[in-house]
Amino acid sequence: MNLLVTAGPTREPLDPVRYLTNRSSGKMGYALASAGIQLGHRVTLISGPTSLNVPVNVDYVPVETAQQMFEATRTHLARADAAIFSAAVADYRPASFAENKIKKAEARLTIDLVRNPDILGSVRREFSFEGVLVGFAAETENLEENARGKLEDKSCDFVVANLVSQCGIGFDSDHNEALLVYPDRSEILPMQTKGDLAHLIVQAVQEAINRRG
Ligand code: PMT
Repeated sequence: MNLLVTAGPTREPLDPVRYLTNRSSGKMGYALASAGIQLGHRVTLISGPTSLNVPVNVDYVPVETAQQMFEATRTHLARADAAIFSAAVADYRPASFAENKIKKAEARLTIDLVRNPDILGSVRREFSFEGVLVGFAAETENLEENARGKLEDKSCDFVVANLVSQCGIGFDSDHNEALLVYPDRSEILPMQTKGDLAHLIVQAVQEAINRRG
């Protein structure tokens, strides 16, 4: 299959020297891309900035901002059979970009933010993608309930839900644990390396494709 994976954080520039971002290292997404290659698939990896080596044989599409990830996804989704959205996309960006470095002046500085596009939410509605769609849910509470909301809202085949408030898993860790949330059931994938977990997720994608016939 042709598999598209989004990975890493996005960076939302504020001025020439500053940006808003988050704690995603890209490890989960790069593990998914590697697993896809190892399992014999063709992989396009759309990635925000990370310090990781790009897995061998993937088609690598580097981006920086959420808007760039949105455009790259629109372009590359057309030839994908399945897509996994593991990127930690910034939901908001600064309303304006200061051409020059913002100088310190007052004791308080307020930054206006505007919404970024919801890439996963656009896949069915705007990009009319009909392949297997897998979202992630990064939660700090009500893991299954919140993931099920995302599953239904974004019309995913399943959602990989992970707790990002727990020590030793989630952001920047080499390990993760996940709950795969399907429309009719949920399946626990216990704590393991992101590499091993990625193999199980890609196999679950393959099974979803097979179920569709
Ligand atoms: O990169 P690592 O350090 O290895 O960490 C892995 C991870 C914790 C980042 C990863 O396992 C994970 O949980 N990724 C999803 C992070 C996230 O943004 O989750 P969310 O619940 O806020 O978003 C839900 C889904 O919508 C995700 O599939 C996300 O990619 C997507 N999304 C979110 C916002 C947006 N504007 N566009 C999107 O497509």
